[in-house]
Amino acid sequence: MSDRRTPLDLVRAEPGPAYTATFDGREIQVLPGQTVAAALWSAGVTSWRTTRRTGEPRGVFCGIGVCFDCLVTVNGRPNQRACLVPAEPGDAITTQEGTGHDELR
Ligand code: FES
Repeated sequence: MSDRRTPLDLVRAEPGPAYTATFDGREIQVLPGQTVAAALWSAGVTSWRTTRRTGEPRGVFCGIGVCFDCLVTVNGRPNQRACLVPAEPGDAITTQEGTGHDELR
């Protein structure tokens, strides 16, 4: 038996069956109740945005909806805070470049 415990083990959570969403076209498994950020982290993704001027990678920083570092595009809607938005079955989550509105220029 492994000594490694997951957050689910620590809180004795028993979520329902996982469902599928996609990140940049790749299928990821999501547990009911996970935010987009939690789903991405669980899939091994830690960065899903780049900054406007320098293109630096960003993901979760505060985790509570304050810093806006975690902005992501969900189902074509840019600037969603991944740490607050609940993931839904079939969500198409995509990396956000810059403001998320660059294609409008
Ligand atoms: S991580 Fe700070 S707002 Fe989401």
